[in-house]
Amino acid sequence: MEFVDIAGLRRSASRIGLGTWSIGGWMWGGTDESTAVRTILKAFEMGINVVDTAPVYGFGVSEEIVGKALAAHGKRDEILILTKAGLEWDGNGIRRNSSRARLEKEIVDSLKRLGTEYIDLYQIHWPDTAIPFEETAETLERLKQKGLIRAIGVSNFSPAQMDRFRTGAPLSIDQPPFNLFERGIEKEVLPYCRTNNIRTVVYGVLCRGLLSGTVTADRSYSGDDLRKIDPKFSGERLPHYLEAVRRIDAHARERHGKDVLAFSVRWALDRPGVDVVLWGARTPEQLSPIPRILGWKTRSEDASPIDRILEESIPDPVGPEFMAPPESMAKTN
Ligand SMILES: NC(=O)c1ccc[n+]([C@@H]2O[C@H](COP(=O)([O-])OP(=O)(O)OC[C@H]3O[C@@H](n4cnc5c(N)ncnc54)[C@H](OP(=O)(O)O)[C@@H]3O)[C@@H](O)[C@H]2O)c1
Repeated sequence: MEFVDIAGLRRSASRIGLGTWSIGGWMWGGTDESTAVRTILKAFEMGINVVDTAPVYGFGVSEEIVGKALAAHGKRDEILILTKAGLEWDGNGIRRNSSRARLEKEIVDSLKRLGTEYIDLYQIHWPDTAIPFEETAETLERLKQKGLIRAIGVSNFSPAQMDRFRTGAPLSIDQPPFNLFERGIEKEVLPYCRTNNIRTVVYGVLCRGLLSGTVTADRSYSGDDLRKIDPKFSGERLPHYLEAVRRIDAHARERHGKDVLAFSVRWALDRPGVDVVLWGARTPEQLSPIPRILGWKTRSEDASPIDRILEESIPDPVGPEFMAPPESMAKTN
């Protein structure tokens, strides 16, 4: 495993982290608790020490499952728990809310669900423009002073929003989306984080499974699986993305003797400014490709063939914006 230091954390973080949104079940067609716990324990066994979760993932279910795996593992200080705050939910859906009262309630609930006395890295899940960012940062800084969290992060923030946030508290990480099909952060976010010594923990490295090479044109999704509304997984776009997957797979096999999954994760790890990639495995078996990702690197000569494949295969690319929760009503930032 490869490791990276993150400001404020007492141990180095594995560069592959386990994402547990799908393990929470919500928007992924449900979950199986015992498989989920086994998946987390398998990740620890394979050298992963970063687990990313959030209260909204299954409305507490993901954090509870992570808590059960942590208890079964028994060595809390070996693991880095990343969770989030700033989304609230009720019968009408989810909304952003980074008010002081909300964050102070959320930390208590998260600690309880996770069965721990501290969170290693506490992240604002989505920017709430109704609350001044410096005020949100100050709220988290107070939680840090109390010893409830060890480091502060944000997710889905623009550089301008991070600038404002950093006037209230130092930022250890940013968590943006990033994979071969979703490269929007290359222009501004990654350079900003590098310049300002903010580590990046990027999410969706397999593009919700598309880059695993196992998605087919006739695969269907059950229940509330978000891939039913993901614009890459339907209509004319799906065959375009699948064609890109096929061609990236051929490129990876010919140049590196690797498959599309291993190449995609390695490619993300090798981008300048990317520190940790989050992988949403939901079964222990889905973690088995990890050894194929370690011990080699993509090359600069990969860049133009990959760019050409993307350009030729996907005439109408689309980003991950469909996942953004509604903005707050009031806007002050
Ligand atoms: N901060 C944010 O706003 C935000 C947003 C999204 C995600 N995240 C974080 O990032 C993590 C990862 O992102 P993600 O879960 O959305 O997407 P992802 O890692 O790109 O994809 C996850 C999906 O890929 C499939 N998969 C995983 N390993 C596989 C394998 N070996 N072979 C075949 N398929 C495999 C699984 O789907 P199936 O088995 O169902 O096909 C899984 O649910 C999340 O869990 C969460 O922690 C954060």
